[in-house]
Amino acid sequence: MGNQVSRDTPDNVASDGESSDSETSARLSEDGAARLSEDALKLTRYFPTLVFSLDIPDSDSLNAHLIEAIYAERERDDSGVNKSNFPELGSWHSHVRLHKDDTFAGLVQQVDAVSDMMCRKLGYHTSYRLKIGTMWSIINPPGSSNRAHIHPGCIWSGVYYVQAPRNSGRLEFIDPRTQNMMTQVEYIPGTRRPRNCWTKVRYQPVAGRMLIFPSWLYHSVAPNRSRAKGKNADRIIMSFNLSQEKRR
Ligand SMILES: [Fe+2]
Repeated sequence: MGNQVSRDTPDNVASDGESSDSETSARLSEDGAARLSEDALKLTRYFPTLVFSLDIPDSDSLNAHLIEAIYAERERDDSGVNKSNFPELGSWHSHVRLHKDDTFAGLVQQVDAVSDMMCRKLGYHTSYRLKIGTMWSIINPPGSSNRAHIHPGCIWSGVYYVQAPRNSGRLEFIDPRTQNMMTQVEYIPGTRRPRNCWTKVRYQPVAGRMLIFPSWLYHSVAPNRSRAKGKNADRIIMSFNLSQEKRR
């Protein structure tokens, strides 16, 4: 009987391994040919890659304050640090302890609130919280970008867009299942590939929006091609890493 079922099952329909022979037989027509309803084909997503996004309410005043504070920090520490940025192209990356600076307390409060929401949504142990371990800023003037990287040593990483002029560089997430690149499937030309089949995701930055994604997820930023005037062309972000810490 088992052999009979495997012969009559189309090659491209996976058996879930739990159907009984009688259930499978019930899906077969009288002449033995498979007559399957599309509704009968179930799709289950396992191991998803989660990306949270949130628009901070009334962000204009927060952003105006942050822009002033970030340029002041660059004035104070012009060389910054060299991470995913390209200093030779003008990209500036601050040190990574801005969360310790009271100037950035407003954003820290927002991140803490979002982190608490995530802990509840994800069912994390209530004795633990997601704590900011590092926080920094990046200014990408026109022509600069960020190379692909991950954020080792933490659970979640986030970005908050402080200033994001048009064409200032999309954030690109890369499919973490590199094995998935081994084969290339042909899709219907001129149509949008189904979301379940994407191998890259590009986010248009929007001022006032926060994204939080797994720290292991490779990401990069496209070159800033803004044509805005002066500092209005700068792409300015705040970024942070979150780790789980026992509540005191
Ligand atoms: Fe990053």
